Amino acid sequence: MPVLINCETSAASPPVCVEYVRKTAERLLRLCGRPAAELSITLVTDARIAALNEAYRRKPGPTNVLAFALAEGPATAMAVDLLGDVVISVETAGREAGLARISLHQRLAWLLTHGLLHLLGYDHERSAAEAARMAARENELLQQLQRERRREMIRLAVNVDHVATLRQARGGAEPDPVLAAGICELAGAEGIVVHLREDRRHIQDRDVRLLRQTVKTKLNLEMAAAEEIIAIAVEVKPDMVTLVPEKRQELTTEGGLNVAGQKKRLKEVIARLGAAGIPVSLFIDPASRQIKAAREVGATFVEIHTGRYCDVRGENERQQEFELIAAAAEEAFETGLRVNAGHGLNYVNTSRIAALETIEELSIGHAIMARAVFVGLDQAVREMLGQMM
Ligand code: PXP
Repeated sequence: MPVLINCETSAASPPVCVEYVRKTAERLLRLCGRPAAELSITLVTDARIAALNEAYRRKPGPTNVLAFALAEGPATAMAVDLLGDVVISVETAGREAGLARISLHQRLAWLLTHGLLHLLGYDHERSAAEAARMAARENELLQQLQRERRREMIRLAVNVDHVATLRQARGGAEPDPVLAAGICELAGAEGIVVHLREDRRHIQDRDVRLLRQTVKTKLNLEMAAAEEIIAIAVEVKPDMVTLVPEKRQELTTEGGLNVAGQKKRLKEVIARLGAAGIPVSLFIDPASRQIKAAREVGATFVEIHTGRYCDVRGENERQQEFELIAAAAEEAFETGLRVNAGHGLNYVNTSRIAALETIEELSIGHAIMARAVFVGLDQAVREMLGQMM
């Protein structure tokens, strides 16, 4: 293996997806024209990197990344292309990510790139010109990495349930979620989501059937794994189904599906929907065991529940919840699942989630409809798209 990873972090360090680090390093080596080079990466604590910083650079305290080159002279002179070691403090990386409001993994990609460029002979401490050259190469590599992982722009799928909520308040025909869906698509939404609940509190069967005929982008039917609704899905054939847990008493979907706890049933439902040509997404909390279970039962997508991230108060708590989502999205993406996210996203908290290149689509409803009351639906959708740039 050209990339060797040692994880020497402690239980107190933020959790790292080692597979992500490995794949990012392999991609970087390829982008630098050294795909077969041997690179060792050690993920450590602040205490460990402080000791190395003191011993090798005579500098006190922890730093974010250290690079120890093995090879001197041209790589071709050696039988094996040995680059050396990059040592990263996951704790410092986590703090820096919090300050920059990016994910730990996004910060790790930068530190890895920085360390690797040092091993390839770049050195920002040599001169201002050299620092500018290194920064330019770093940006170039990071952009290439991002482009490789997300080939398309992140998409917005608008949930129009609450247009139906308003209609049902008077039991009449206005406002019509079918018309709303068309306005959302004209404003730039690339998908329409509706939740056909067993109690039919907002979306009705008629809405789903009409939307199937009118939606030109992608119709995502949110639903419980209930026999009556499965039969409708198989008949109507939305472009995809998102399975969610459903409780009669809840105001909105309250948590992710416990996939790990009902693998047999979900496997069977996913197979039935798959036989009808409908790919399935599972709405899950950002937890590793749910992602593994989603893989096992044959889901095509997971939709990561962003509700807790949106609901917590305080920046530290929000960053912690964000990290859980980022890590879960990494894990799901790297294991081959397609990743969506949603619930509770609004005009303030969406941009950080939209910047995760592992996520391909956000499902957003309430915030857009609430804003539409004041600025109109077309404008509300466009403003949300602006948050996702
Ligand atoms: N994703 C899922 C699975 C949902 O149940 C909902 C709510 O219907 C959403 C996304 C959209 O949430 P919100 O209306 O808070 O944007």
